[in-house]
Amino acid sequence: MQKKTLILIQLLIFILSLVLAGSMSIAGDKKTASDTGPDEMILKTAAAIKAAKFPHKKHQESFECGECHHSESDDGIKYPYVDGMEIKKCVVCHNKDNMDNPKLNNFKLIAHGLCKECHKRNKDKAPTKCSGCHIK
Ligand code: HEC
Ligand code: HEC
Ligand code: HEC
Ligand code: HEC
Repeated sequence: MQKKTLILIQLLIFILSLVLAGSMSIAGDKKTASDTGPDEMILKTAAAIKAAKFPHKKHQESFECGECHHSESDDGIKYPYVDGMEIKKCVVCHNKDNMDNPKLNNFKLIAHGLCKECHKRNKDKAPTKCSGCHIK
């Protein structure tokens, strides 16, 4: 084989491996701490009666991820946030099938538990009226 052809083949293999590595990292894409989620969110329950706006990024600038995010151990006990942890939607765990506690098994209750409680503690800056979070 000519030297030129050999170099060309090696180059092709190199490019191919780059493409392959790229597609593999997409396939294995997990939600980790490097994934900070959407900057702005509209949160709503399945019933979608009263949607709420949530400036996620603005909150990330003032609070640690673990202030709001946590996980669950195999035996259903709350597990604190650790860097790089996969972050799931709240209702993945806070639903009636997964959780017996009637105060924690729907989105409205846990959202009010998290959002409203902190806003009350910061009422000088954070909105506490319904319309401060809920949009029409
Ligand atoms: C003030 C509370 C709060 C803070 C602080 C916060 N988050 Fe969130 N985050 C939320 C809420 C609420 C959601 C929406 C969850 C849902 O839709 O069930 C969310 C959603 C996400 C999602 C998308 C999850 C999905 O599957 O849709 C990611 C990723 C995420 N957050 C990462 C982070 C990271 C990383 C940090 C820290 C840098 C952080 N968040 C800080 C409250 C917070
Ligand atoms: C992987 C499962 C899981 C996810 C996802 C999850 N939680 Fe929880 N959460 C738990 C468990 C387990 C508890 C403790 C339940 C108990 O004590 O009965 C808990 C407790 C809570 C509590 C009660 C107060 C406390 O800190 O113990 C609030 C409020 C709460 N979660 C809000 C949220 C919000 C908001 C989200 C989404 C941003 C979320 N959770 C996502 C599993 C989860
Ligand atoms: C740990 C405390 C904390 C939690 C939890 C929290 N907030 Fe806030 N929030 C604040 C503070 C403090 C401000 C005022 C921020 C500022 O003006 O810099 C604020 C501001 C806001 C604002 C007004 C933003 C603006 O641009 O004026 C909205 C809307 C809001 N929060 C919605 C939510 C929702 C919805 C949740 C729950 C998913 C939530 N917050 C959870 C502390 C919190
Ligand atoms: C700090 C933010 C915040 C404030 C203040 C707040 N809420 Fe909410 N509320 C939420 C979030 C987040 C949810 C869950 C997502 C959604 O359905 O909007 C929610 C859910 C609800 C739901 C369930 C909607 C459904 O589709 O099932 C009702 C009803 C509700 N809130 C009423 C109120 C009322 C009434 C007030 C004032 C007394 C109020 N909220 C104040 C954040 C807030």
